[in-house]
Amino acid sequence: MLRKIIRALFFFGAVVPLGECKDTIVRDVAIIGGGASGTFAAVRLRDKGQSVILIEKEDILGGHVNTYHDAATNQTVDYGVVIYHNLQIVKDFFNRLGVSWTLSSFDSSSPETRWLDPKTADPVNYTSPNPASGIQAYAAHLSQYPSIEQGFFLPEPVPEDLLLPFGQYLAKYPEIQSAAQVIFNFAQGLGDFLHQTTLYVFKNFGTDIIKDTEGGFIVADNGNDDIYKHATELLGSDVLLGSKVVSIKSRNKTGIDLIVQTTKGYETIKAKKLLISIPQKLENLRPFALDQKESALFGQFKNTGYYTSLVNNTGLPAGFVSFSVSADTPYHIPKLPGIYSIQATAVPGLFDIKYGSPGTLSDQYVQKEILAYIAKLQANGIANKTSNKPQFSPKDSIAKGFYKDLYALQGYRNTWYTGAAFDTQDSSLLWSYTETSVLPLLLNSSS
Ligand SMILES: Cc1cc2nc3c(=O)[nH]c(=O)nc-3n(C[C@H](O)[C@H](O)[C@H](O)COP(=O)(O)OP(=O)(O)OC[C@H]3O[C@@H](n4cnc5c(N)ncnc54)[C@H](O)[C@@H]3O)c2cc1C
Ligand SMILES: *[C@@H]1O[C@H](CO)[C@@H](O)[C@H](O)[C@H]1NC(C)=O
Ligand SMILES: *[C@@H]1O[C@H](CO)[C@@H](O)[C@H](O)[C@H]1NC(C)=O
Ligand SMILES: *[C@@H]1O[C@H](CO)[C@@H](O)[C@H](O)[C@H]1NC(C)=O
Ligand SMILES: *[C@@H]1O[C@H](CO)[C@@H](O)[C@H](O)[C@H]1NC(C)=O
Ligand SMILES: *[C@@H]1O[C@H](CO)[C@@H](O)[C@H](O)[C@H]1NC(C)=O
Repeated sequence: MLRKIIRALFFFGAVVPLGECKDTIVRDVAIIGGGASGTFAAVRLRDKGQSVILIEKEDILGGHVNTYHDAATNQTVDYGVVIYHNLQIVKDFFNRLGVSWTLSSFDSSSPETRWLDPKTADPVNYTSPNPASGIQAYAAHLSQYPSIEQGFFLPEPVPEDLLLPFGQYLAKYPEIQSAAQVIFNFAQGLGDFLHQTTLYVFKNFGTDIIKDTEGGFIVADNGNDDIYKHATELLGSDVLLGSKVVSIKSRNKTGIDLIVQTTKGYETIKAKKLLISIPQKLENLRPFALDQKESALFGQFKNTGYYTSLVNNTGLPAGFVSFSVSADTPYHIPKLPGIYSIQATAVPGLFDIKYGSPGTLSDQYVQKEILAYIAKLQANGIANKTSNKPQFSPKDSIAKGFYKDLYALQGYRNTWYTGAAFDTQDSSLLWSYTETSVLPLLLNSSS
């Protein structure tokens, strides 16, 4: 009840009389969210002759891209999004923006890798199997479902295998088991991996990823935030940073009429079409006045938690790398919530620590857990004691989600959708999905 009242007050406070809006921004397409998919869509729609406005709540574009610039060493450390696929669409996008890139291998394995318990930080007696034959068998399974690489284009009926919890899938197909750890660690963020639906695992660790683990991935030479700096420059006044939609006056064939709170006050935006690329969770979509049909679909998304951090003053040795394994679980897949991995970065003394959870946890809770883990590493002698306390640079979390009905929403009420919930947590595949499956629908619809 109290929550309801507060929400009602919030809405009341947020609605501003039309007279206070300075001016009206008129565009073909209003895009909500300037992460991987929203930024890509804005650039591509402009290239296709559409006028756009991109609305991003943070003061920079890029979503889960986190690039740390170290003044002392002039190094950049990407500790959010790190790698992009070696696909033509990725190279075209980088080149369009004038971002220099290279092909780079992404191999974090090392003979020095420590295998530690995700809770106690104690060593686990584990030897990683050679995953080559497991990966080969897995790739053969993937090749049965080529359409899911492009989106949630599922065979009908949906094959039962795709709906099995991945632990059961592994049990059913033992030839894949030797690859379980590799898939788990590559597809970090899937939450309770052994209970996660196989479909999501396949979408996260797909055919193209396997190809790139051999041939190399694309990375931006000057840090991945360079992509979004160039995009911000290119888009100019078509980007509203630090901005959020507070209410919607209409969203139908007549057009889109939004009120946006910006750093300079409220603006009215009138657009022909709306493209929503923020995580499509009910709480995020509240200002868009969802109807019953939309709420029923978006209410089904559940998210897992994936957190990244850069920490210093840990006392860990230079070059330290650890991955979590549990002593007593199938394939030694670690129990979450807990630490996924610790990896030394290019900056001496700075470590990239990843944390995963089956559901959302608060940032404060995760930070406390990471600090407690470092304390255990110092207590069991893996790390030295430090006189300065470990310190974090800012960190992030991601959401994952659930398709025919969902995809059928494209264009409903003159609103289109893209973003991870509509495909997978992978920037390159999201650019592909947006280009091939969203923009053509949006451009071809009449309004
Ligand atoms: C630690 C980490 C590492 C990752 N590594 C990789 C990797 O190496 N390669 C890879 O391809 N993918 C990686 N991912 C996945 C990556 O996050 C996705 O590829 C991509 O970010 C998803 O794009 P998106 O457009 O759906 O969402 P996002 O990129 O999250 O963008 C959503 C944007 O919307 C904004 N927003 C949210 N709510 C609102 C609102 N109400 N109004 C306005 N704006 C709003 C957000 O601030 C954000 O900028 C990683 C993710 C994490 C967390
Ligand atoms: C820091 O690195 C950037 C590119 O990564 C380079 O352009 C610049 O000159 C470097 N600065 C110094 C002081 O070395
Ligand atoms: C680790 O496990 C192997 C076989 O699983 C065993 O031979 C070895 O003794 C174990 N080592 C320790 C230190 O427990
Ligand atoms: C669109 O929404 C506006 C505002 O709610 C309303 O006045 C108009 O009648 C609607 N048009 C259609 C075609 O539904
Ligand atoms: C840890 O302590 C040992 C012994 O004092 C020292 O030789 C080593 O350099 C220290 N390592 C780090 C990373 O501080
Ligand atoms: C590392 O620690 C020092 C203090 O010991 C602090 O001043 C600095 O900002 C920290 N750097 C990062 C990246 O956390």
